[in-house]
Amino acid sequence: MKLETMLAHHGEDRAAYHGAVVPPLFQNSLFTFESWEAIDAAFDDRANAYIYSRGGNPTVRLAEAKIAQLAGGERALLFGSGMAAISAALMHVLEPGDHVVAVKNIYGPTNNFLNVYLRRKMHIETTFVSGEDVQEFEAALTPKTKLIYLESPSSAVFSLQDIAAVAALAQAHRIRTIIDNSWATPIFQKPLAMGIDLEVHSCSKYLAGHSDLVAGVIIGREKDITDIATCEYELLGGKMAPFEAWLLIRSLRTLPLRMRQHQENALRVARFLEQHEKIRRVHYPGLESHPQ
Ligand SMILES: Cc1ncc(COP(=O)(O)O)c(C=O)c1O
Repeated sequence: MKLETMLAHHGEDRAAYHGAVVPPLFQNSLFTFESWEAIDAAFDDRANAYIYSRGGNPTVRLAEAKIAQLAGGERALLFGSGMAAISAALMHVLEPGDHVVAVKNIYGPTNNFLNVYLRRKMHIETTFVSGEDVQEFEAALTPKTKLIYLESPSSAVFSLQDIAAVAALAQAHRIRTIIDNSWATPIFQKPLAMGIDLEVHSCSKYLAGHSDLVAGVIIGREKDITDIATCEYELLGGKMAPFEAWLLIRSLRTLPLRMRQHQENALRVARFLEQHEKIRRVHYPGLESHPQ
């Protein structure tokens, strides 16, 4: 199936929707059951069943199915914001006393969560590296390193990491990896195929693309995502609202088209700014002047 067709139709069941051309919005909090046995079975399979919309909702699941397919992951889990997804992914991987190696120019609140919150509350230490050379990551590893956290391109200065090389290094040391892929989106970059364990996004940016919703997502292997669904997702409650998921399904239909246009526009703006006498420096990986 072509990418555009997949995003428009994957996971949809027209017959169940009475032929509706776009999927319906399940704006309900609770689900009902025909029998006590059915309730029991649902609680035994909490990561997949529909019981209560904090745990799972069909509109949210449909958006997750499309995003998982897009990123090449086994499963995706949507959250109420990018930070809800990022903090859940970090708490899933980390335990008190662990050490993290992270890229210096990651999104500010992610940096705060690692460097302030997790350091103070869970005694988790983070070493920040520029990320431009894989040897920097290797040099920063300690026997306590549990995680390497990437964001490529990174926030503000759009510095890049060699994702496949870092993933191989991490695998050789049995270290987990997370990447924030919000800037490139899975349209331009597929980190899971390069060996990264968990991909996180602020969907509030390109994935949603209309400045009308805030959301986040984690994509990865079934085991990781199911564990997060029955732990951080269910217990901390950072779920995504069904209406936002419904808007996101709308947005995904045009994502490939929008990304092509964003890229064309951005390069044109970057070239314009680069030759402007009042601009000292332009950080854009598409320019020949980008150091990487
Ligand atoms: C790269 C990146 N990651 C994560 C986030 C956090 O996402 P949210 O604002 O949806 O919580 C942002 C938000 O600006 C971001 O730019």
